[in-house]
Amino acid sequence: MKTLLVTGGAGFIGSNLVRLIAREGRYRIIVLDALTYAGNLENIQDVVNGDTVTFVHGSITDAALVASILANADIDAILHLAAESHVDRSIQSAAPFIETNVVGTLVLLEAAKAAGVRRFVHVSTDEVYGTLGPDDPAFTEETPLQPNSPYSASKASSDLLVRSFVHTHGMDAVITRCSNNYGPYQFPEKFIPLMTLNAIDGRGLPVYGDGLQVRDWLHVEDHCRGIMMAYEQGKAGEVYNFGGYGEEKNIVVAKAILKHLGKDESLLTYVADRPGHDRRYAINPRKVAHELGWEPEWNFEDGLRATVEWYQSHTAWCENVRSGEYRTYYQRQYEQRG
Ligand SMILES: NC(=O)c1ccc[n+]([C@@H]2O[C@H](COP(=O)([O-])OP(=O)(O)OC[C@H]3O[C@@H](n4cnc5c(N)ncnc54)[C@H](O)[C@@H]3O)[C@@H](O)[C@H]2O)c1
Repeated sequence: MKTLLVTGGAGFIGSNLVRLIAREGRYRIIVLDALTYAGNLENIQDVVNGDTVTFVHGSITDAALVASILANADIDAILHLAAESHVDRSIQSAAPFIETNVVGTLVLLEAAKAAGVRRFVHVSTDEVYGTLGPDDPAFTEETPLQPNSPYSASKASSDLLVRSFVHTHGMDAVITRCSNNYGPYQFPEKFIPLMTLNAIDGRGLPVYGDGLQVRDWLHVEDHCRGIMMAYEQGKAGEVYNFGGYGEEKNIVVAKAILKHLGKDESLLTYVADRPGHDRRYAINPRKVAHELGWEPEWNFEDGLRATVEWYQSHTAWCENVRSGEYRTYYQRQYEQRG
């Protein structure tokens, strides 16, 4: 059985990807995750078994650690998802984004080259393309990179490093760029879980500016299937965009969440807009449909309802995240065993 190294596998998308791969049972997985505030080992606790799925606590910026993982396992591919991922935090302080997203990606690329890892799958974002006007055509793989936030600038920088390793070193790498993901296990600083948990608690739902920003919502399970298709069928050096055909205004999403939960729209609280807030993202997923045979299986209406229900029914997970208890999980599970 081939082995995959999944970076950021305790985060939102990474944990859904690890669960998908574990469920299918076709690969061994090593998860490398620093367990920052965004990493939660509880997300994958039921699939980490120390055999087909193992967990390594550490940073992708630790070159010695990464080299030792690659030296001790015959890794077919690195699925690279570890990142600082929240735009608002990058506005407060950009340095951690450069450290993890740029320096960390470089460490992985150097280590993958040295160890002869067959393929590098770099998970990026549509935010590298910048923002769209209301009538602009959706982003394609040929859209120029015009990142607007420190977060998207750090992701675009890492994309360019990957591109350079393909061009200069002949590395077999693919880059995936997706629209906004939603689904289970997303940390509640992001729009949909934040709105959902606030609504469940009867607290105000903070809507940036006029709430008319448009995002193209992609269910995380569809995205994870796409990452695996890019790994298994993608052509070296190619970029693949994944979108959910799910364009919707933030305010419409917030109102839909309130409706699902039977809560009143008086909970909507308009707050000052994020500086430099991108107005609209939309992905044209034609290339992945034609070349990989990928189509999203979730439509946004059903996916949103299922997601709201997931947060309603996973009260222990939500409570551990809200209280900060989740941050002690690693110590309790691993360090006490010595
Ligand atoms: N969430 C989205 O809507 C979205 C959209 C497009 C692209 N992406 C990209 O997908 C990837 C995963 O996003 P996510 O939403 O799951 O993020 P997340 O913030 O939920 O998870 C990131 C994970 O990376 C880990 N991590 C952070 N720094 C690390 C380091 N130095 N070394 C090792 N691990 C580290 C964290 O502990 C966490 O488990 C990111 O690369 C992100 O840019 C996300």
